[in-house]
Amino acid sequence: MHLTTEEQAWLAGEAGSAIRRAMEIVAALGNIYGATHLLPVQRVQISGVSYRNIGAAGLDFLTNWVAEGARVHASTTLNPTAMDMRDWAEQGFSPDFAKKQQQVVDTFARMGVGSGYPIPTCTPYLMGNHPEFGEHIAWAESSAVVYANSVLGARTNREGGPGAIAAAIVGRTAAYGLHLPENRIGTLKVTVNAIPRTLSDYSALGAWVGKAAHRAVPYFVGLPLSRGSALWEEKLKTLGAAMAATGAVALYHVAGVTPEALTPVTGARSILAATHTEITIDDLAPGYALLNDPVEDIDLVWIGCPHASLLEVSLVAQAVAGLRLRVPLWVTCARPVKDAAIACGLAAVIEAAGGRIFADACIAIAPVRDLGFERVATPSAKGAYYLRNLAGIAARFASLEQCVEAAIKGKLEIKN
Ligand code: F3S
Repeated sequence: MHLTTEEQAWLAGEAGSAIRRAMEIVAALGNIYGATHLLPVQRVQISGVSYRNIGAAGLDFLTNWVAEGARVHASTTLNPTAMDMRDWAEQGFSPDFAKKQQQVVDTFARMGVGSGYPIPTCTPYLMGNHPEFGEHIAWAESSAVVYANSVLGARTNREGGPGAIAAAIVGRTAAYGLHLPENRIGTLKVTVNAIPRTLSDYSALGAWVGKAAHRAVPYFVGLPLSRGSALWEEKLKTLGAAMAATGAVALYHVAGVTPEALTPVTGARSILAATHTEITIDDLAPGYALLNDPVEDIDLVWIGCPHASLLEVSLVAQAVAGLRLRVPLWVTCARPVKDAAIACGLAAVIEAAGGRIFADACIAIAPVRDLGFERVATPSAKGAYYLRNLAGIAARFASLEQCVEAAIKGKLEIKN
């Protein structure tokens, strides 16, 4: 792999051990994946932030790198933590866990992440980290990666945790995978005959297509969606997140909607490979059924995976206004969204019903059992997938209305 004179010097340790270590990681990834050179990146998004996931070993790894002088040289944002960094006690976290989680965030802040004031979220694109069309970036969170590639037309692979930190330190990523135009062509044509209406319907569609696609690049036709229509970005957000969870989808196209598929598929400029596979989706029920455990009683409803936009918070407020919930209903979002929800009265409506909004946090990477929850309902396929597979608890995946009804009854009746 070709390295510039400056990159070679970094690799030789001439800029210090922290940069040398970062260059070793970036160069190793480039060599593994057959990259010919490195690309400059000005935006990075880091995952691996939950103390529950990284533990003492991960915190030591970060602390040592910072002690060596590691500082980011790109606009860098942080994935969610396990808890609301202010209201963690209300969620049931212990002071000891909260202290450790705070140390993780402080360590990233000392690296310069978020200019020293990180906003933990899996929706950095809603928080000003908004790459341009065609811009090379290095993002780690799978739902953000698929959104950046597909909806914004930026170019990123699914970076791993240390790889993203290394990319932020040297401002470089290796030129392979989805950075290359030839790998951005649709390879799976998905004809949608079913009519997804709600956000959870898009999530169910994504769950099923992700399972079929695995690493393919889906090209959707027939989706009842247009740029600028109601909730179109939220629908694409949840569609992509689900495909990234049940498959390894990091890029998809929607005919006439996403930026690389705005023009019809024709000849040499085609965004759909001449030899592609095809599937047809006639029914959304299999997508819902895929992520439903056989339990009826639930002890938590979780909304906000990926982190909710203010519009999504307003949908929750509408759904619970005037109700009394029997089990907790938690909405997760970025801190500025929570602040806005408080300022415009949405938080008060949700709280009056017995729900709560928690910033910074992702429930799937929290020690959910220790918080007292074993059966969680959610309108997010990705949320259900990770609750099962990361948190190891029972999950129900249903519409927002069904989840709210379940929060009232403490029960989500199995209909599929
Ligand atoms: Fe975000 Fe956690 Fe879901 S990181 S996409 S809220 S699993």
